[in-house]
Order: sequence, then C-alpha cells, then structure tokens
Amino acid sequence: MHRTTIAPWSGIALLMAVAAVPWPAAARAQEPENPFTSRIDVRMGRQSYQAQCSTCHGINATGNPEVGGPDLSTGRFQRADGDAGLFRVIRDGIDGTAMIGLGADSTEQSVWQIVTFLRSLAPAAVDPGGSAAAGAALFAGKGDCARCHMVNGDGGRLGPDLSSVGDRRTPAELESDLVDPDARVLPRWWTITATGPGGETVEGLRMSEDTFTYRIMDADENLRAFSKYGDWSYERTQASTMPGYAATLTAQERTDLVAYLYSLRREP
Ligand code: HEC
Ligand code: HEC
Repeated sequence: MHRTTIAPWSGIALLMAVAAVPWPAAARAQEPENPFTSRIDVRMGRQSYQAQCSTCHGINATGNPEVGGPDLSTGRFQRADGDAGLFRVIRDGIDGTAMIGLGADSTEQSVWQIVTFLRSLAPAAVDPGGSAAAGAALFAGKGDCARCHMVNGDGGRLGPDLSSVGDRRTPAELESDLVDPDARVLPRWWTITATGPGGETVEGLRMSEDTFTYRIMDADENLRAFSKYGDWSYERTQASTMPGYAATLTAQERTDLVAYLYSLRREP
C-alpha cells in the first residue's frame, strides 16, 4: 500500500512562498501570441495535421462526419477563442469528447504550427452586406434582442452572450440563427417545464442538473431548484426559446442585424 504523509505546515509554507513572488498583473491578462506564422510554419503544420488529425477531421480539414470531427477550415471555432484558445484545444483536447489533443509532451512550436496551418485555410473575411449601425439599433430596439442577449456587459441572460459571436459564426450561420433558431440548440439552452401537483407549471432554462435536482431559470431570470423526487413532473424540450424572425423582420432588417452581429469580435 502506498501512503503519502504531508506535514501539516507544508501547505502553509507553500502558500507563503507563492504569495512572496511578485505577481505580474499585466502578463496575466495577456494571451500569448503565435510566434510561428511563416509559410514554412504553414507547411510544417500541414504535415503534423495530416499525420495526427486528418483521420478525424478529414484530409482537407473539412470534417469527418463518421467520427464527429468538425470542419476546421472555416476560420470559426465553437470551442476556442482566438489563437491562444485554439492552441489550448489542440494541446489539451476537449474533456469528455474524442478530441484528445497532442498532450503536454508536444513542443509549443509544433502546436503553434498547426494553429498557423488551420488559420491559413480560413476564407478571407466575407462582406456580410447590410449596415452594422442599423443592426445595432434594431438589436437594442425593435428586435428586442437585448432582452435575452448580453453584448459587452449589457443585456439579459436568457440567451448566449454575443460579445464575440462574429468569431464563432459566419454570416450565413447568423442568418440561420435568426430564421431557424431550432436548427441548432446546444444542451445549455434546453428548457424544462416543471408541472406541480395542482397543475401549475414553471418553464425555464435548465441551468444545471444532478441526481436529485433540476435548477431552472425562469423568464424573469429567477433561479429555482426542483427536487426530482417530489410530486412535480418534468418535461424537457430541446427547441430554442428564441423566436424565429423570418416573418417579423424584413430581409433587409435581418441583413443589418447579421452585419452587426458579424462585427462583434474580440480585439485582434
Ligand atoms: C480521435 C478523433 C480526433 C482526433 C485524432 C483529433 N480530433 Fe479534434 N476533435 C474531435 C472531435 C470529436 C471534436 C468535437 C468535440 C466536441 O466539441 O464535441 C474535435 C474538436 C476539435 C476542435 C474544436 C473545433 C471547434 O469548432 O472549436 C479543434 C480545433 C480540433 N478538434 C483540432 C484538432 C487537431 C489540430 C487535431 C490533431 C492534432 C485533432 N483535432 C485530432 C476528434 C478528433
Ligand atoms: C426570448 C429570448 C431570446 C430573444 C428575444 C432572442 N434570442 Fe437569440 N437566442 C436565444 C437563445 C436561448 C439562444 C440559444 C439557443 C439557440 O441557438 O437557438 C439564442 C441564440 C442566438 C444566436 C446564436 C448564438 C451562438 O452563440 O451560436 C444568435 C446569433 C442570436 N440568438 C441572435 C439574436 C438576435 C439578433 C435577436 C433579436 C432579433 C435574438 N437573438 C432574440 C434567446 C433569445
């Protein structure tokens, strides 16, 4: 049997040692930049990609539906913000999925070169048409989008934060989000309808769930917990709570909204 004994004071000593080191506040907030961006790096990155990633993401990185490896050629990544985020996904993988990552043994250079290769595949930024300024006005006004969506700290929590949605979604995908919200709803945005013994109902977003409890946020952003073993029953819906705007906004208004949403990016 293997036992480790830790002296009771060693943790305290460690804490003090850490606290004594001056903390580089500025360095903490800054994400590392990719130092390997030459054409040779693209080529090296392509070679590593072909050897280690193409079985799951396809020879041309356009995805492999058979194993669920997503398209990596669009320049838009659902799971990674910026180059540093992409670096982390490629090195560390994504917990609980087939995406294992290269691991800590890989060199930083080889990971950055794959980032450079994937960036080289991205089509040049498209011009979404429309007026971003008009879209911003619709977002806060007639469209009533801010009721559910946060942009740079303003707005509601009943839908995803859209502050950098232009990094995640292409203009075509944004148009589809507006006219057909049910087409793609991540589990985070599924809803639950709880029905009580007297027939009363509470509907809301499923914030979290464990063996015993559902936590639900209702339309007024109140958080409520429900026991799975009481006399309430529950129904789960995978449809979006976002209304579709095919009929209530004109094509021009949607184009303006898409222009606005597409302009929402992190600082380069
Ligand atoms: C065994 C199959 C497999 C291998 C090998 C693999 N991946 Fe993945 N990868 C996946 C799957 C599945 C996902 C989707 C995970 C999820 O989000 O559910 C994924 C997701 C990703 C994402 C996130 C995509 C997004 O939209 O944010 C990136 C980036 C990625 N992989 C890059 C790579 C690179 C680069 C390699 C090679 C070093 C690699 N993968 C190797 C299966 C694989
Ligand atoms: C009643 C709340 C509600 C309203 C109002 C609403 N949305 Fe949404 N929206 C959501 C929810 C919930 C989701 C996530 C589920 C989904 O993808 O449909 C979402 C998803 C989105 C997405 C996809 C975001 C991503 O990260 O993939 C976009 C873009 C979007 N909404 C834009 C808008 C715009 C623009 C308006 C106004 C015209 C609007 N929404 C109005 C609730 C709302």
